[in-house]
Amino acid sequence: MSDIISVGLGSRAYEIHAGVSMLHRAGGLLKPFTRATTLPVVTDEHVAKLHLGTLLDSLRGAGLTGKPIILPPGEATKSFAGLERLCGELLDMGIDRGGLVVALGGGVIGDLTGFAAGVLKRGVAFAQVPTTLLAQVDSSVGGKTAINARQGKNLVGLFHQPRIVIADVGLLATLPRRELLAGYAEVVKYGALGDADFFDWLESSAAAALGGDEAALTHAVAQSCRMKAAIVARDERETGERALLNLGHTFGHALEAATGFSDRLLHGEGVAIGMALAFRLSQKLGLCPGQDAERFARHLKAMGLPAAISDIPGPCPTAEELLGHMAHDKKVADGRLTFILLRGIGRAFVTSDVPVDAVRDILAA
Ligand SMILES: NC(=O)c1ccc[n+]([C@@H]2O[C@H](COP(=O)([O-])OP(=O)(O)OC[C@H]3O[C@@H](n4cnc5c(N)ncnc54)[C@H](O)[C@@H]3O)[C@@H](O)[C@H]2O)c1
Repeated sequence: MSDIISVGLGSRAYEIHAGVSMLHRAGGLLKPFTRATTLPVVTDEHVAKLHLGTLLDSLRGAGLTGKPIILPPGEATKSFAGLERLCGELLDMGIDRGGLVVALGGGVIGDLTGFAAGVLKRGVAFAQVPTTLLAQVDSSVGGKTAINARQGKNLVGLFHQPRIVIADVGLLATLPRRELLAGYAEVVKYGALGDADFFDWLESSAAAALGGDEAALTHAVAQSCRMKAAIVARDERETGERALLNLGHTFGHALEAATGFSDRLLHGEGVAIGMALAFRLSQKLGLCPGQDAERFARHLKAMGLPAAISDIPGPCPTAEELLGHMAHDKKVADGRLTFILLRGIGRAFVTSDVPVDAVRDILAA
């Protein structure tokens, strides 16, 4: 049970292989992309305990040797210090431009490894083997790589496309439920922004997909990747349409900042609330039927995701506080906030023409 999705980027085109037991097949899938017989495998301590052995066995079966680099789990690893350590270990291993670096992990490992591969020796090839739902449907696809700076998240980075993405949905069985749901916010985002049929399907089948139905989970991951791949192929550098993928993110980032990027709110939870707020703002501006905004929020709640600022545990951030965080968002251009709004489920568009009072009202409601 697997699906292959092409990311049509000319000389930088690649395939996403999504399905069950893909990790067992990874060695054979990776082999064509390197002249080396030893492959660095970058991962974190949690993933190493659970899934590294399977990948190393699979590489061995294909006549390759995996050399693990095991980093501490968590966002703090996506830092200058983490980059220095990883580049040092890769250089000590003698990585050269014929080599292939494998990222086995969530978005933290994928972003850091992609960035390190992009700058080492002016660019070495890398492969994504994502192990969280967020990484399988979002961060491993599209070539955005970055580390965090003291001034903010993902501020130091580059576009560096992987040579292949191998998404084994079976690996998600070991993911804590909260992380799985946070990743699901990015899945439902694709339905909300551009595919009403997919949203319909998610309403009836997402609970089964997240409950262990691997065929349904493969469909959810593959359909999400198909949508992201199509958008990235049309707008790799986010000069236009790719911004749609930021649905919910302007609100979401402000909420993450207001809660101190802490355990109170995971990134995907912030995106879930952010999308619900984008629907409500669209409704307030007379752009979107209220029944679509309500239907969207109802689905988030049914899945166990937060859909309102009041769903965040602890004290609620104020509207002014959140507006202050939005003013520092990467998506501010010429002092104007860019929002992704909706004309209905599956019909998102980008706009910088949003009255700040309407945003304040939505945040205060
Ligand atoms: N590059 C992009 O386009 C893009 C897009 C979205 C998010 N991101 C970035 O992705 C990062 C978040 O990614 P994430 O949510 O995957 O977080 P993560 O990489 O921190 O993983 C979350 C946690 O799950 C653990 N884990 C990973 N796979 C597991 C598995 N199969 N079983 C059990 N535990 C597992 C990890 O060790 C970690 O503790 C952020 O840094 C964000 O900025 C990047």
